[in-house]
Amino acid sequence: ARLVVLVSGSGSNLQALLDASADPEYGARVVAVGADRDGIAGLDRAAAAGVPTFVDSVRGYETREAWDAALTRHVAEHKPDLVISAGFLKLVGAAFLEAFADRYINTHNSLLPAFPGMHGPRDALAYGVRVTGATLFFVDAGVDTGPIIAQVAVPVLPDDTEETLTERIKEAERRQLVESVGRLVREGWTINGRKVSIP
Ligand code: GRF
Repeated sequence: ARLVVLVSGSGSNLQALLDASADPEYGARVVAVGADRDGIAGLDRAAAAGVPTFVDSVRGYETREAWDAALTRHVAEHKPDLVISAGFLKLVGAAFLEAFADRYINTHNSLLPAFPGMHGPRDALAYGVRVTGATLFFVDAGVDTGPIIAQVAVPVLPDDTEETLTERIKEAERRQLVESVGRLVREGWTINGRKVSIP
């Protein structure tokens, strides 16, 4: 199966997928990496793995719709079976969601529906929950609201800072992403009553 991964930052989730893809038994490989900005480690990781990259920055386009159309086109060129947002910090528009309906997934660093948005670990700490985690879900038009694929729980420890909690979540999140993507591509999936299988 063909994976296109979208990143905005360090790309440690991307790296986990690149590492998993090295084994042909995995059943999926990263065929391209897209970003919304230059100069990020995620792009370097892709280049080091010999995976083609593209960058579409919102500022490079006159309107948000034009950016969304370009991103849609660039992703589509790689004929993905699954598009994975892994620390991609942009909300895509209607054209993108339509083009990759039922095939666009995102990983978030909280147990949704708790703590959506940009600061999952910080918000979990501030609330005082004792357990948080990571959620993999199908993206819909809302913010962190789509159908859930998998969740993993991570304890919040008494001495946690935002940094230590963020790292503990990310370790579990990477494992979950690799396992869940492997399962999706092997077994296909059903979303909103529609069966999606990968050729
Ligand atoms: C992940 O924890 C994701 O949930 C959050 O940003 C992090 C991305 O990390 N939105 P990386 O770029 O994959 O290292």
